[in-house]
Amino acid sequence: MKKRLISGIQPTGNIHLGNYLGMIQNALSLQREYESFLFIVDLHALTIKRQPKELKESIISVAKHFLAAGMDPKKITFFVQSTISEHTELCWILTTLTQFGEAERMTQFKDKSKQNKENINVGLFSYPILQAADILLYDIDVVPVGEDQKQHLELARTLARRFNERYKTKTFTVPKALIKKKEEGGKIMGLDDPTKKMSKSAKSKYNYIALNDSIDLAREKIMKATTDSGDQIKASAKKPGITNLLTIYSLLSNKKLKEAEKEFANFGYGEFKKAVADRVCDFLKDYQEKYSKIDNNYVAEVLTLGAKKAKTLANKKMIEVRKTVGVL
Ligand code: TYM
Repeated sequence: MKKRLISGIQPTGNIHLGNYLGMIQNALSLQREYESFLFIVDLHALTIKRQPKELKESIISVAKHFLAAGMDPKKITFFVQSTISEHTELCWILTTLTQFGEAERMTQFKDKSKQNKENINVGLFSYPILQAADILLYDIDVVPVGEDQKQHLELARTLARRFNERYKTKTFTVPKALIKKKEEGGKIMGLDDPTKKMSKSAKSKYNYIALNDSIDLAREKIMKATTDSGDQIKASAKKPGITNLLTIYSLLSNKKLKEAEKEFANFGYGEFKKAVADRVCDFLKDYQEKYSKIDNNYVAEVLTLGAKKAKTLANKKMIEVRKTVGVL
């Protein structure tokens, strides 16, 4: 039997190159090897204020991104989190196994609370517990994610073990995070501030390249990207801006970072940025053409079919969980 993989993404209009290189590309390359599940975490998205109409459109848009990236619905089960009510039910049970201090220590909770002082809701606090439920429902072996999800995955592992130990069962598989190294896309940095990760909630649109940015805007963003002092095109901790652009270029060209460095050995910053912008724009053109051909009815069909499979598995697991903990 094949091992199982799951990953999720929040529905926003700004799915960006970090999401693509950190998670989507990784899941894509593993779709043959693993029985894969990819889902849209619309309940997680509610931890930030959203316009209902926009949220609904973003859900469909993320599904289109999965398909445009080349994910095959015959190999991957796609679904929307809110359509499988077992996620929230298991989340509740797992909240009773999570210590307050454990949830409080989550760095994403701390960061998001700082960024959003007027809306530090309880959902934001229990966000990683819902994420653990998402994973544990499906007997998952591996979870391809970006580096920012490492701590959340640790919690999912802890909760799986804790549940199994407390009830002396093997109810949950302990999942493993699959995180690429930074230079392989595990952490793509912001273009305007390469010391922090590229983020869809960044204040400035010059932080990220959204996969549906216009070609002109994407080019402008790369040309404006913060670079470092000096004039050499070399990856190093002292040159986070150049390193980030080299990483993006090499990943989109299927080349090693060292090869890309060699290619640009005699380039100045301006010429180098132009080459990176050309590569990014070629990628976006091709990607957006595929995205535009995906029909809404087809997306609905794929999500309905996926939900059916996910529901069967989640329902079976919840029957086992209810029996194990002693509720009716
Ligand atoms: P989200 O929507 O923030 O991000 C989706 C995926 O993209 C990765 N990512 C990045 N990778 C590299 N560089 C970056 N700058 C970058 N920014 C984001 C994220 O690590 C993630 O893999 N909590 C999750 C969604 C989630 C989930 C799950 C994931 C909910 N339940 C269960 C896996 C399994 C999140 O907010 O992802």
